Amino acid sequence: MSEDVVVDVGGPSPYRIDIGNGLLGDSERLAERWRGRHALIVSDSHVAPLYADALLQTLRAARPGGDIALHVIGAGEASKTLANFTAVIDTLATQGATRDACVFALGGGVVGDLAGFAAACWMRGIDCVQLPTSLLAMVDSSVGGKTAVDIPAGKNLLGAFHLPRAVVIDTATLATLPRRELRAGLAEVVKYGAIFDPAFIDWLEASADALLALDEAAITHAIAASCRYKAEVVERDPFEKGERALLNFGHTFAHAIETEQGYGGLVHGEAVAIGMVLAARLSALMGLASDIDAARLQALLQRLGLPVTVPAGLDPDALVARMRLDKKNDASGLRLILWEGIGRARVVPGVAEDAVRAVLA
Ligand code: NAD
Ligand code: GLY
Repeated sequence: MSEDVVVDVGGPSPYRIDIGNGLLGDSERLAERWRGRHALIVSDSHVAPLYADALLQTLRAARPGGDIALHVIGAGEASKTLANFTAVIDTLATQGATRDACVFALGGGVVGDLAGFAAACWMRGIDCVQLPTSLLAMVDSSVGGKTAVDIPAGKNLLGAFHLPRAVVIDTATLATLPRRELRAGLAEVVKYGAIFDPAFIDWLEASADALLALDEAAITHAIAASCRYKAEVVERDPFEKGERALLNFGHTFAHAIETEQGYGGLVHGEAVAIGMVLAARLSALMGLASDIDAARLQALLQRLGLPVTVPAGLDPDALVARMRLDKKNDASGLRLILWEGIGRARVVPGVAEDAVRAVLA
């Protein structure tokens, strides 16, 4: 069994990411992060039946006099709604949760974003401990404090920055994660190498089989490395005034695809895989990067079992219209994260829509 790993996240309100096997059963570790009497576990209909009882017991053991409630939403992106946000707020109100209450977000990125947003808003902000159970949430969404819900106009358009009080990653939960979701999480792992570190891409190419086989040492290394890359960026730029935008490599394309599909088709990590390939190909088309690097990124994603082409039936014009609503855009028009090759990403303002259409077609 791998040793537990700790990644410290500095910045305006420092916190710790603990990574290890079995941490959901560690009542001392969880109690350390829970200041008050009220705790609300938010989870979804896939994860709650697997892990909520065990977490309830862990928290009860930690705080026998505590007032602990459980709120379960439906699984999947379609649940990241304002209506479900309001329902979580209603549960906190029914509980009479005070300002020292803690929300425990037990699940993937959908639960983490929604529960985090509820914690950001209840009484103008209470603690949120992220307990990610999908690989994607472990390596990305649980860290950095972006919280949101989707609205009809687009993904994540309503939200807040609200840093977690702590992130506790129990790698044992990956045993029940569907294979498709494991692969989707690996897309975000690849993203860190693509934007920051060619050596990490080398390691991922060499470790692809071990990662797909859920080899514990390999998966723990991938999670810890990803959390370190993300921690370095978010502690320097917590509110995305600059370099944090690089973490959105491929995401403008991905969000457009997801929104256009109506959240029933590709899962987020799959859309990110396609988006990264499109961003790499657009970079090559604009003369910023080589086709060889774009092909290498595509080959790695394919080897990890991820899709790399735009799903049939999506209209390039409709996708570009969605991309115009991206939060990174400014007066220059489309502002995309492109790259100069593996490990070197940058923000490019005023990207011509015709070039974007060309890679989408
Ligand atoms: P998800 O939360 O929908 O989880 C994927 C599926 O796996 C769900 O069906 C879930 O029930 C299931 N699941 C999760 N853990 C499981 C486990 N251990 N065992 C069995 N089933 C399990 O999706 P996701 O991919 O985790 O996250 C995607 C969301 O995260 C999107 O909404 C995206 O916008 C958001 N996101 C946010 C940030 C951020 O910085 N806040 C970053 C990246 C993505
Ligand atoms: N997932 C992008 C970010 O956290 O900024």
